[in-house]
Amino acid sequence: MKEFDKEHILHPYAPSTPLADMQLVVRASGVKLELEDGRKIIDGMSSWWSVIHGYNVPELNAAASEQLSKMSHVMFGGLTHEPAIKLAQTLLEITDKSLEHIFFSDSGSVSVEVALKMAYQYWNSQGNSTKTKILSFSKGYHGDTFGAMSVCDPVTGMHSAFEGVLHKNIFCEAPQCMFDEEWDEKYIEDFKLKLSENHKSIAAVILEPIVQGAGGMRIYSPLLLKRVRELCDEYNVLLIIDEIATGFGRTGKLFAYEYANIAPDILCVGKALTGGYMSLAATLTSKKVMQGIETNKNVLMHGPTFMANPLACAVANASLELLLNSPWQERVKSIESQLREELAECESLEIVKEVRVLGAIGVVELTKEVDLSFMTPAFIQEGVWVRPFLNLVYIMPPFVISQDELSHLTAAIFRVVEKFSKI
Ligand SMILES: Cc1ncc(COP(=O)(O)O)c(C=O)c1O
Repeated sequence: MKEFDKEHILHPYAPSTPLADMQLVVRASGVKLELEDGRKIIDGMSSWWSVIHGYNVPELNAAASEQLSKMSHVMFGGLTHEPAIKLAQTLLEITDKSLEHIFFSDSGSVSVEVALKMAYQYWNSQGNSTKTKILSFSKGYHGDTFGAMSVCDPVTGMHSAFEGVLHKNIFCEAPQCMFDEEWDEKYIEDFKLKLSENHKSIAAVILEPIVQGAGGMRIYSPLLLKRVRELCDEYNVLLIIDEIATGFGRTGKLFAYEYANIAPDILCVGKALTGGYMSLAATLTSKKVMQGIETNKNVLMHGPTFMANPLACAVANASLELLLNSPWQERVKSIESQLREELAECESLEIVKEVRVLGAIGVVELTKEVDLSFMTPAFIQEGVWVRPFLNLVYIMPPFVISQDELSHLTAAIFRVVEKFSKI
């Protein structure tokens, strides 16, 4: 099977003939992935932020089975169903009260496309066709579809590969005021400049709140977010908050924008929405935005085949119930303190530039780019699954990880980074 995979199946951002041997996972349970040879390794990645409750969770399995026995899917055009209605009720309840409308889609990237469409249509329907650009932060990441790519960091965000076909947007410098740093107005100057010079053509600002993920794993000050909100209001520009990675407790708040006590005009969620069981995302917005879109009898122009897939919605309902009835704040706090304490050891290694931790996210930034052909087997030999990128070795484990399992992960990071520094 692995031979077939190697010859025919494409994997994320990878050559068609993979450079390193691929691991075959046969099952997963709790925080462990079981490989074909029976080895069980601790997952430090939560399958890219999503598997917050771990794998093979009885409550989520039961919700999926129950929904399967009713209906796995039904079209959402002209029809509706209880799993979607319940999920919408919960999401609108746990997010800012100004958010009153919700659009379900099938992946994070698509929820960003929908958010961008909402922003463009909001202005266009009201007769303002000059607001066609989005202002976003350098080092941001919002997905891989065309609209989403056009707001990702222009350097790391694949713009060069799609030169000439991406919508040209506006970028300001990446957040410079780190999480605990004292605020200074200089940190907002570039954003303010880009906004004041271009606001007439800007439909919305898009950002990842507090933590920039795939664009660099950077953790920035809530005060920056607060200032962004104020300036968006001042310059009459919508604010899209992309909580696809940060949502559902990962940063220590249910949603990271809560750190700044602000509300988005448009909010994207995905990834952990189903506890990582399947692909589902949502774009939420306010009455004001929806009414703007629907001016002159317009409607939001999007409608995926698998919109609000009942199976995914049922699992999302079970996942949210599990999360909201669990002591997730304490769990994330305790992961945070353990990560702070244990990853700090990495700072003694010369190759380590910085260690950053927020909530259940731990980042070890190196002074040089990682080499996956060295690191992947080294981590597996240590009994853990860690997938570094650029110069970043980072983990965001499932919230249910035990102290011992987390120590196993952090010790493995120390040892692998130490070995890597010697090659
Ligand atoms: C902040 C953010 N936005 C959007 C996406 C895209 O989500 P998906 O991969 O589900 O399309 C990601 C995925 O990593 C993300 O981290």
